[in-house]
Amino acid sequence: MCGIVGYVGAGNAQDIILDGLSKLEYRGYDSAGISIIESGKMKTRKLSGRLGVLAGSLEKDPISGTIGMGHTRWATHGAPTDDNAHPHTNGKGTIAVIHNGIIENYRPIKDELLALGYKFKSETDTEVIAHLLDHYYEGDLLQAVFKTEARLRGAYALVVMCESSPDEIIAIRHESPIILGVGEGENFIASDIPAILKYTNKVVYIENKDIVRLTRSGYEIFGEDRKRIDRQVRTIEWDLESATKEGYEHFMLKEIYQQPSVISETINRRLDENGSLFLENIAIDEDTIKLINKIYVVGCGTAYHAGLVGRYLLQEFLKVDAQAEIASEFRYSDHYIDDKTLVVIVSQSGETMDTIGALKAAKAKGARILSITNVVGSSIARESDDIFYTWAGPEIAVASTKAYTTQLTAFYILALYFGKLKGTLEDKCYDEILAELKTLPGKVEASLPAFAEKAKAAAQEIKDSKSIFYLGRGLDYYTALEGALKLKEISYIHTEAFPAGELKHGTIALIEEGTPVIAVATQQSIYEKMVSNIKEVKARGAVVTGITRKRNTDLSEVADTVIYLEESFNIFMPLLSVVYPQLLAYYTSLAKGNDVDKPRNLAKSVTVE
Ligand code: F6R
Repeated sequence: MCGIVGYVGAGNAQDIILDGLSKLEYRGYDSAGISIIESGKMKTRKLSGRLGVLAGSLEKDPISGTIGMGHTRWATHGAPTDDNAHPHTNGKGTIAVIHNGIIENYRPIKDELLALGYKFKSETDTEVIAHLLDHYYEGDLLQAVFKTEARLRGAYALVVMCESSPDEIIAIRHESPIILGVGEGENFIASDIPAILKYTNKVVYIENKDIVRLTRSGYEIFGEDRKRIDRQVRTIEWDLESATKEGYEHFMLKEIYQQPSVISETINRRLDENGSLFLENIAIDEDTIKLINKIYVVGCGTAYHAGLVGRYLLQEFLKVDAQAEIASEFRYSDHYIDDKTLVVIVSQSGETMDTIGALKAAKAKGARILSITNVVGSSIARESDDIFYTWAGPEIAVASTKAYTTQLTAFYILALYFGKLKGTLEDKCYDEILAELKTLPGKVEASLPAFAEKAKAAAQEIKDSKSIFYLGRGLDYYTALEGALKLKEISYIHTEAFPAGELKHGTIALIEEGTPVIAVATQQSIYEKMVSNIKEVKARGAVVTGITRKRNTDLSEVADTVIYLEESFNIFMPLLSVVYPQLLAYYTSLAKGNDVDKPRNLAKSVTVE
């Protein structure tokens, strides 16, 4: 979603802001803009297209100044045009605002402003804020911001500057995330840490409904009651290097190859000196876990797919009813939830609007909230009773890979830990499963080179396909869902996942001569059934790639190509079987000449409903 960078200090604001915005490109955007106060005058430049278009214009005709803000826009209200790009200004161009999120009540405010004679240049919801600020401004920007903010409904992060106050930037956080970077004689505001990490690793997570005023010499934060409040300054431990490609052609490829090490990290951080599991940030004890009589696992997209596997594990190990739900559905549904319900929230970014909405809805009904997230201090982490950090490091590619496998790892650990705590998992099983879990990073590592070779070749075969199908049963169906999502989101080929047994109830009509079908068949108890389903699609002309365990050599008699996985327990197969589909999606996108890391229409962090 939109990227925000604000700077006030002694440095060249234009360079710092452009550099910061470039670090946020992964969020997805379609236009970019900047406002800088140059010799006492607000100058705003904004253009549709990539950041390079704006940078090119600024190179030819720079704006020099030491206070400014920039924005990359992901269109919601109005097409990605120059006029709709941010910053938006009042009529005189002296007050500028950038915004991430949606102003839900912008329509009546716009009507009111039109009646007062204000003229609008864009189709955006954001422009009303610039005019409202103008309306309320009486020489004190902070007071004008307080009055303006009180009028707004929706989710937003806003940054505001005014020509008459050339030493201050004011930012508001309301549901949409924003962070403050604390420097020496300079301060920063941004929608995400990579934007400012080159300049400072001291960060304040702005809390929901806070307003922050930053100047060259310091900053003040005002809480919801608009009284001054202190917020903790945190030191970011990861460096910018972990947010760069490190020699890989794309972030996605780097992140796929990082999986062995980040899965290890996720496991090793939970092992005590005896090799047993311990969980910090999780306060659920034996009594609490025994009281839980219902579990919901909630997330969006890839996180939801991890949740499907997680639901299975929790139900199996804790012997309690568990359900996985899509966050945007769950938040508006009428589930029976009470204080005996555990809701497990899964979100890489910790900032997905629908997932936050689901969390809040469940919390309001009394559920205990355990979140699995990758971002320390994210909104979801802060709203939760218990937190499991996945320690995957920053995931930059829009298509999620290492976040998924570390989310799976989190579920293995949680199910084991809670199963033991509750007494529903025997010690012997616990020991065997934990021992096997520790071997997974090595198994993923061992499979990567051969999978990459095979995926590269297969990409050439499938890149011009009209439709592709993934099939699976049980846990394999969840891998099929994730494999299909990966392929469609970056190759733009229509790809669907089906429970293999369901095909003949309609979908098999779509199979024709040459249709690629990828069949995941790792669950031994239903392996024969998968073989029959593969035969059904083969008989109708499908070209089948099977993904199975090493021992099932007979699959080569039925499928055209077989990808063999390292042996492991059934429950661990989702983690091993997803790696080939990730690589297949990557190489197919590459073969089609697509922007692998930044696929069209998508954003990394979905902070609107
Ligand atoms: C797909 C993908 C998305 C995210 C989804 C949730 O590759 O990345 O489907 O999984 O938008 O995002 P988080 O996990 O940040 O809540």
